[in-house]
Amino acid sequence: MSKNTFDLRGMKILIVDDTSPNIDVLRQTLEPQQYEIAIALSGEAALKVAPKFLPDVILLDIRMPGIDGYETCRKLKENESTREAPVIFISANNETEDILEGFLVGGVDYITKPFQIQEVVARVETHLKLQHLIKEHEAKRLEMKQVATELLKKNNRLKETMEQLKSAQKKLIQSEKLAGIGRLTESMCHEILNPLNIIFGVTQAMEMERPEDENLQKDLASITEEIKRIENITSALSDFSAQGEISLESVNINQLIQQILEKQKSKGRLDSVKVNQDLATDLPDSLLDTQLMQQVFVNLVNNARHAMEENGTLTVSTQFLAVNENTNQISSNGSPVPQGLGHLRVKFSDTGKGIPPENIGKIFDPFFSTDPEQTGMGLSISHSVVEKHGGSITADSDGEKGATFIIDLPVVHRDAQA
Ligand SMILES: Nc1ncnc2c1ncn2[C@@H]1O[C@H](COP(=O)(O)OP(=O)(O)OP(=O)(O)O)[C@@H](O)[C@H]1O
Ligand SMILES: [Mg+2]
Repeated sequence: MSKNTFDLRGMKILIVDDTSPNIDVLRQTLEPQQYEIAIALSGEAALKVAPKFLPDVILLDIRMPGIDGYETCRKLKENESTREAPVIFISANNETEDILEGFLVGGVDYITKPFQIQEVVARVETHLKLQHLIKEHEAKRLEMKQVATELLKKNNRLKETMEQLKSAQKKLIQSEKLAGIGRLTESMCHEILNPLNIIFGVTQAMEMERPEDENLQKDLASITEEIKRIENITSALSDFSAQGEISLESVNINQLIQQILEKQKSKGRLDSVKVNQDLATDLPDSLLDTQLMQQVFVNLVNNARHAMEENGTLTVSTQFLAVNENTNQISSNGSPVPQGLGHLRVKFSDTGKGIPPENIGKIFDPFFSTDPEQTGMGLSISHSVVEKHGGSITADSDGEKGATFIIDLPVVHRDAQA
């Protein structure tokens, strides 16, 4: 590499020597090259100066009073900040032993006294060039490392975004499919209810025509019962498919729960049940579809009531969880759930017969019911409603000690709405 490719001006040289004439000669030799030069008159002084001055090359006399050049070199190599600076030993003679010892303690070169000016200049320049190259290389390495880290971060962010997009896309497809199924269901229900009404009418007419025929009356009663069952199923299916867009309004969930419990009590549906309310006082209002959420809570109250004998206890609690654990959540309609507002947790715990482990994975499936009189749509509707709000509903049951349903809903305010 040609001399011109390096600009060594301003590079730092530390001269360590106890003899002024030597220092003068070295200084006069090196100063014209426009290096920055520092002087230390002993090994001890060198150890103090070097970590502050951070030389690119050290010229180190071997024979000095106090700690000699070898010891000074050893110590310089022990210190992290001076370890990399190349040491050129200054030897009074060129005896092989001296030179060898110098290399052993970490020196990279040597010059001999009396100084040959051109030799000194050449050796110093060679080591400065090397240092220059090493530093340049190190700077490039760090730069590359930084670029690589940045790229890695960007790549990870990209991966995360891709995952989110994929899951949003999946949910969108799912909700599109659901909407299609919903429309189909709606018209099916309609088509079923029309002939069913006719059958019901004919059954009633036959009941009135032949009141004396007991067998016939029995058969007609069971037909009527089955008609009611089909009606229930179709109306539950209709409810399920009718949940298109949700209509949000700012609601206090505590009030909603209290209204429902009052209503259920006034209808006599909680006569045999003790109801405990443990409602949080710091609950923020949130945007919810009141009607749909009411439907969810009524389903949970009904289920608990069905599961309990006389004297059961239903405990309803609410809680505000300030930090949203489900970061980067995407709601079932594909839009991201606003972050940072925390979420509401509503728990319904009962002392009923509990849910056997083999059923716990099925209870949110449409039409799953352990009661032949029921449609088995309550929990699947509830699940879909909660999902539409960007929340989750889970069930927990410890054998026969009852069941607990936990609903988590993100707190959403009007200004945070997408
Ligand atoms: N609190 C509960 N304790 C014990 N089992 C429960 C409880 N809630 C739900 N289950 C079980 O989950 C099943 C499904 O509940 P879901 O509400 O979907 O349907 P259902 O109550 O049977 O009928 P529907 O609500 O449509 O009238 C129930 O049949 C019951 O076996
Ligand atoms: Mg139910």
